[in-house]
Amino acid sequence: MQRILSMLSRNGIMTGEEIAGELGLTRAAVWKKIEALRSEGWEIRSLGKKGYCLEAGDRIDPVLWQDLLTTRSLGRGEVLFARQMDSTNRAAKQLAAGGAPDGSLCLCEEQTAGRGRMDRTWVSHPGCGLWQSLVLRPSLPPANAAWITLAAALAMAGAVEETCGVSPVIKWPNDLVLGGKKICGILTEMAADPDRVEYVVPGVGLNVRRDAVPKELEGQAGCVEEFAEPAPRRVILAAYLAQMEALLGILTTEGLSGIMPQYTARSCTLGRPVRVIGHETFEGVAETMDAEGALIVRRSDGTAVRVLAGDVSVRGVMGYV
Ligand code: BTN
Repeated sequence: MQRILSMLSRNGIMTGEEIAGELGLTRAAVWKKIEALRSEGWEIRSLGKKGYCLEAGDRIDPVLWQDLLTTRSLGRGEVLFARQMDSTNRAAKQLAAGGAPDGSLCLCEEQTAGRGRMDRTWVSHPGCGLWQSLVLRPSLPPANAAWITLAAALAMAGAVEETCGVSPVIKWPNDLVLGGKKICGILTEMAADPDRVEYVVPGVGLNVRRDAVPKELEGQAGCVEEFAEPAPRRVILAAYLAQMEALLGILTTEGLSGIMPQYTARSCTLGRPVRVIGHETFEGVAETMDAEGALIVRRSDGTAVRVLAGDVSVRGVMGYV
């Protein structure tokens, strides 16, 4: 049955005879399978003599996007998809701990316990966002694992631009902002020995449709649909995986400096007045990033502070005036 879905999503319309021919089945057997797929909720239209047509809408079932992949490893390891998960990060960490290979992916339509940075929750209503987490096994020292987050932000910003025609900026280190509102957040988790990363899980939540944004956050949080007609989520996903794989390749061969020109061009933080909220709250100018991806903030007294974690507000972006 998966093969019929994959053939229909690849070819558009196919006659019963064509499907039967490819699968070595009778037309009656094909018809039975189509009925079974319909009863599972798939919308397959009969167009008389022209054949069958799959109305895939905005579904993100792997069978519909595996043909769109241009990657060598991302999205091709173990792929775990479910209508509902508690958190794709939790699921991906479990896959990773069980030995899943580099490039494995967890994604779902709805998260019931989506997690954000700093122990926040991430609201993830069904069908209106892209909630997914990769399992990566990069050859990087743990100190450089933060690079993965920067690459994920860059990859998703590039994917949204390529597929939806709007260009998000990146608020350091990993929020994508469009029209002054956060449309995407990234939570990266890892397991590591002192000198070797075992796995890194970058979990990316992209608000695509308006329903993704909780009412109480409407001033600060946005979605792609507020600014452009979004591409199907599976198309955004395939573009993200392709861009992420390319950026990871650059990080492996050239280090952070290889992606810095792209990151700087997308950043709405570097060179701007910022307020850092952490153990201590202070203001300054975000001057640059160091080799580990930490933000270097110059205070008005001339001292430079290295910021690794903590919330950074950028003046003029998302409520900081
Ligand atoms: C943040 O900005 O606070 C980070 C939000 C990260 C949300 C994504 S959605 C997919 C993945 N699974 C999770 O539980 N969280 C991340």
